[in-house]
Amino acid sequence: MERRPRRNRKSPVLRKMVEETKIGTEHLIYPIFLKDGNNIKEEIASLPNNYRWSIDLLLKEVESCVALGIMTFDMFPAVDDALKDQVASYSYADDNFYLNAIHVLKREFPEIVLMSDVAMDPYSSDGHDGLVVDGKILNDETLPILNRMALAQAQAGIDIIGPSDMMDGRVGAIRNHLDENGFSDVSIMSYTAKYASAFYGPFRDALNSAPKHGDKKTYQMNPANKREAILEAELDYIEGADMLMVKPALCYLDIIHVLKEQFNIPITAYNVSGECAMVYAASEKGWVNYNNAITEILISMRRAGADAILTYFAKDFARFITN
Ligand code: PBG
Repeated sequence: MERRPRRNRKSPVLRKMVEETKIGTEHLIYPIFLKDGNNIKEEIASLPNNYRWSIDLLLKEVESCVALGIMTFDMFPAVDDALKDQVASYSYADDNFYLNAIHVLKREFPEIVLMSDVAMDPYSSDGHDGLVVDGKILNDETLPILNRMALAQAQAGIDIIGPSDMMDGRVGAIRNHLDENGFSDVSIMSYTAKYASAFYGPFRDALNSAPKHGDKKTYQMNPANKREAILEAELDYIEGADMLMVKPALCYLDIIHVLKEQFNIPITAYNVSGECAMVYAASEKGWVNYNNAITEILISMRRAGADAILTYFAKDFARFITN
C-alpha cells in the first residue's frame, strides 16, 4: 500500500500538526439573558446551565467569562409582560433596564465586544418580530421601529447590532439611520439566513417571547431553501451588513459553506438554543459525552466556514479547553 492515511494519525502531536480547522474562545460569542432587578440568577428550565441575570450578578459572570477568554457577548432582555405593547415602545424607553445594562457593561469592561438583537419580539405583546396589524406582520411599518431600537442601543454603547427580524430592507434602513445619527462605527451582523426553525423553543421560554398567534413563516425562511439564502445574503451585503449570520447552525452547515464561498465578509453561525438543549438532554442521560459532543459540534461549524459562532456552550467549552 502506498497511501496509508493512518500514518498521519499515529500520535497526538502529529494529529494536531495536520489539523485543518482550529477553534478557540476567540471564535465564540456567548448569548446571555438579562432581567430587571437585583440579585437574580434564574436558571432557564429548557436550557440548563443558562440563566436570566440581573446586572449586578451579570458583572461577576462576565468577569469569569473574560478570565476564560470569552470576550464577545450577545445580550437578550427578558421583559416583563406588563411592559410589552403592540409597537415595542419599551425597546427604546429611557428607563429600559437593558439599555442601562449595556452602558454599565461597556463602562466596567471596555475591552469586551457587545452585540444585541434588533427585533420586536422581546418587547411585543404579539410576540412577533414585526408590527402586527389585523393578524398580518407589516414590513415597511416595522422598519422605523427597528431603527429607533437600533439607535437606542447604539446610544447605550453597543458594538454590534444584530437585526434578527427578517423584514425586507432592514439592514439598509438601520445602516442609514445609524449613520445619520453619528454611529457609523456601530457594526451590523445581520441574521441573514434565519430559518423558521423548531429549534428556538428554549430561547422563547427564556424570554417568554413565543408568538401569541400564528408562526413566523411569513418572514423567517423555509428550511428547504438554499438559493434563497444567497439572495438574502446579496441583499444584506448590498445594504451594508458587516457580517452575515446563518441560523440555526447545525442543520444548516451547507448554508454556512455556500455563503462563505460566495461572500468576502465574515460569516457567523448561531448554534441555537434547541440545538444546545438536545446535547444537554442526551448528555444528562449519559447517552453522549458532553465535552466531546460540543467540541465536535463547534468544530463542524468552523469547518463549514463559520468565522465566529454564537453558542450557549461557550463557557463550558472554554473551561474544557483551558483545563
Ligand atoms: C428573536 C430571536 C430568536 C432567536 C434569536 N433572536 C427567536 C425567534 O426568532 O423566534 C433564537 C435564538 C435561539 O434559539 O437560541 N428574533
